Amino acid sequence: MATDEWTRWLLTRRDGGNAELRAQHATELDVFRDEVLDRALLGPADTVLDVGCGTGLIAFGALERLGPGGHVIFSDVSEAGLEVCRARAGDDRRCSFVHAPAEDLAAVPDSSVDVVTTRSVLIYCDRKADAFREFFRVLRPGGRLSIFEPINRFLLEHAADSLFGLRDAEVGDLLAKVVAVYRDGARRGENPMTDFDERDLLRWAAEAGFDGIEVDYRAQLDVPAEPIGDWAARKDVAPNPLAPTYGEAIDMVLTQEERVRLDTRMTALAETGTPTRRTLATAYLRALHP
Ligand SMILES: C[S@@+](CC[C@H](N)C(=O)[O-])C[C@H]1O[C@@H](n2cnc3c(N)ncnc32)[C@H](O)[C@@H]1O
Repeated sequence: MATDEWTRWLLTRRDGGNAELRAQHATELDVFRDEVLDRALLGPADTVLDVGCGTGLIAFGALERLGPGGHVIFSDVSEAGLEVCRARAGDDRRCSFVHAPAEDLAAVPDSSVDVVTTRSVLIYCDRKADAFREFFRVLRPGGRLSIFEPINRFLLEHAADSLFGLRDAEVGDLLAKVVAVYRDGARRGENPMTDFDERDLLRWAAEAGFDGIEVDYRAQLDVPAEPIGDWAARKDVAPNPLAPTYGEAIDMVLTQEERVRLDTRMTALAETGTPTRRTLATAYLRALHP
């Protein structure tokens, strides 16, 4: 089956194929899914449009909550992601599929859905205000919008120079070179991943015409998190679909000698259970179509 950067990341590069990391992510993703769906206040016969469905985290979660009269529209720019969802949906007649960007959902008629959900998708959209206008257009009066987005601008402002939150005198110089790959990528030009924050989400929702807008914002700065774990496995992980894996970034900027020095030290830190530190901000937004 043909794939693309989006689906490759969702299926493998997000955890490097490492079972332990996959299990950790699954636990976190379940929370995000449930929080998005709880805020959407689904009724059993609702039609739900999941925008940027990927491999179906939110959309299949919605399907489980709906009754036999419910319907889920899976939409994404990734044909490969939609294909994964089609295969998983099998002959469930409550599912349909739309290949479209969030900014132009023309295939979905005006006032035709009860709920729009989206998770970690606007962060990749260049025209976010247009996406909000589309969400408003396709929702019926009384319809609900429920969104989750990471606020990566926070990361850029507070932890642009830190890889995994590690401060290690022995390899600090090497970690700084590696993290610069991500930081410089994030600062290049008009980057949709860092050109907005939670206040922009709220403003775009209001400007599109939504009522009852609520944003739940959470920021974590340097919070002790999971141990480094298996260093070789961690090097196969990419922090987002558009970024290199840590191993690829290392290969881009470190000499062979530096790579050996970093591997030796990271393996030692991993063996002693050294924790990473997390800097992350996220926002849930829910809103009503009047
Ligand atoms: C991080 S994944 C999230 C997938 C899914 N929502 C989830 O929660 O697992 C980002 C998704 O956004 C999709 N995407 C990227 N740009 C998009 C756009 N402009 N419109 C719609 N979807 C987009 C990608 O194909 C990918 O499936």
